[in-house]
Amino acid sequence: MKIGIMGGGAIGLFFAVEIAQEFPAVLFTKTIEQANAVTAQGVEVREKGKPAIYSIQAKPSEDALMKEMDLLVIALKQYQLPAAIPILERLPKETALIFLQNGMGHVEVMDCLKQKNVFAATVEHGVLRTGAAQIEVKGRSRTNIAVVRGSRNAISRFIEKMRDRFPFVWRDDAKWMLLEKLSANVVINPLTAILNSTNGELLTNKHYFRLAQEIFKEFAAVFSEYETEKGWESIQRICQATSGNCSSMLSDLKAGRPTEVDAIIGFVLSEADKNGIAVPALQTVYHMVKGLEKTHAE
Ligand code: PAF
Repeated sequence: MKIGIMGGGAIGLFFAVEIAQEFPAVLFTKTIEQANAVTAQGVEVREKGKPAIYSIQAKPSEDALMKEMDLLVIALKQYQLPAAIPILERLPKETALIFLQNGMGHVEVMDCLKQKNVFAATVEHGVLRTGAAQIEVKGRSRTNIAVVRGSRNAISRFIEKMRDRFPFVWRDDAKWMLLEKLSANVVINPLTAILNSTNGELLTNKHYFRLAQEIFKEFAAVFSEYETEKGWESIQRICQATSGNCSSMLSDLKAGRPTEVDAIIGFVLSEADKNGIAVPALQTVYHMVKGLEKTHAE
């Protein structure tokens, strides 16, 4: 089974390193420069203060080799997906696809592709990219995965073989799974980005905790089908499990990169708007992050 990983960000590099220990794997990057850097130097993974180098085969995303993959793990940010659609459209119907995005915008993308076996997954590991071919693993947890279309059997060998080193946990309901992750991103990402705090501080600082509750209340009002009690517990579990981490939104801001605020908060704002629900706290944090994006990029 040949596995491709599309996207050279923190999560793409991390998945490529882990998967390449068990399967023939290729990392597909946006730029030829990053593919060359990864091929030449390998990927440096720093974990618990110790660095280790892993050799990884890397190619730019346009490479014909992508068509030979049995499974493609798509580790692009939500805002990078539109540019990748033509590439995904050229892949065979038999290529199984796993989408790892935050937010919900990729649901439409998954629906319009022709591939028979499509899966959505949500990542609970904490990883930072520190260079073109360098990452730091801040905390290991798991990847949740659910069938969007097709059958679990298409990738059961992959899931089984990865079980001990890098667990994937099957979930029955893709929509619930994505909403659960969205709620965590809606609460954790903008607050940590604005407050320059770790995820854990949202639990330990009582003022930040109040803000987190307020944001969650608005989220739950927009998605009334979401089970509020279970959802709030899950956010606290994620804050606890990743307590020492910077959220991806804070890391993106610090690195002067665009954030996923539109895919995360923007999506909730548009759902709230469609249903005439007032979400003043979400409006506020949305504009604060947009403003910070501008100042950090300058
Ligand atoms: O985007 C992130 O940083 C992560 O998805 C999460 C779960 C909020 C933990 O930092």
